[in-house]
Amino acid sequence: MSSMKEAIFSRRSVRTFNDQKLSEEMIRELKEFSASLTNPFGNEIRFVFLEDSSLSSAVPVINEAPLFVCCVAKKGADSEEAAGFEFEKFCLKAVSMGLGTVIIGGTMKREEFESRCSMSSDEYMPVMTPVGFPAKPSVRERMMRRGVRADSRKEKIELFFDQDLLHPLTMESADLSEALEAVRKGPSAVNKQPWRIIYRDTVCWFYKTVSRRYTSEETGDMQKVDLGIALCHFVTVLDENAILYDYIFEDPQIAGTEDLAFVCGVRV
Ligand SMILES: Cc1cc2nc3c(=O)[nH]c(=O)nc-3n(C[C@H](O)[C@H](O)[C@H](O)COP(=O)(O)O)c2cc1C
Repeated sequence: MSSMKEAIFSRRSVRTFNDQKLSEEMIRELKEFSASLTNPFGNEIRFVFLEDSSLSSAVPVINEAPLFVCCVAKKGADSEEAAGFEFEKFCLKAVSMGLGTVIIGGTMKREEFESRCSMSSDEYMPVMTPVGFPAKPSVRERMMRRGVRADSRKEKIELFFDQDLLHPLTMESADLSEALEAVRKGPSAVNKQPWRIIYRDTVCWFYKTVSRRYTSEETGDMQKVDLGIALCHFVTVLDENAILYDYIFEDPQIAGTEDLAFVCGVRV
């Protein structure tokens, strides 16, 4: 079993699984882990486990997977970020156990999953993931990865800034650099990487670029899910490196950030 930090740096989305089933103990461990999760926003998130490989036909981008785990969130402010945060923690746990996952927000027959989640009217399912043992990527998977340039990420100077958006962050403290790299390595919908971070007065302020393309009634804003994932990667590295931090939810109103959506700050 690898650490969560190792999982962050070794992970990739897996869309091709071999036919090995998960043992009962593994499923129990994943269920217990998911039940223990919390998020900085305090929103209610629950996980629905569907041990039914026939659901694979409802996800055209994968081959057969033995398990599907759905993320169900209570509607409300920050619910997508909260979902992204907890769901990525779950996916990292699966990776640390030698399993593969791919967060799916779009390419699935949603109703097949939603109908099995017993959702109330104030809940929705932003994302789900198949879970299984990774196999050699299929030709289709390799083509998909090429299509979204899944192996590349924006340069640091495009993502991380010092004081304001005019100055790229060049002087990184040792404490921060690994946590920032963990953000950069993170998965995001269509690999768009909408995270931006401004470092000022020992706080990393998290923002999201704004695009309507990734928002719908059913899913909420997929890029807010991306921000929850980024935050998860960031604080997971701080936790493992024993660096203390706290969250700030008040917008510091930094000049020039008007076109971005403020998420939160992490004081390191
Ligand atoms: C919120 C979110 C939604 C995603 N939705 C899909 C999807 O619908 N279908 C799919 O094949 N991949 C989906 N992905 C996976 C991304 O395409 C993938 O994370 C990205 O290309 C980077 O590749 P990597 O995860 O291997 O690093 C999603 C990822 C995230 C974070």
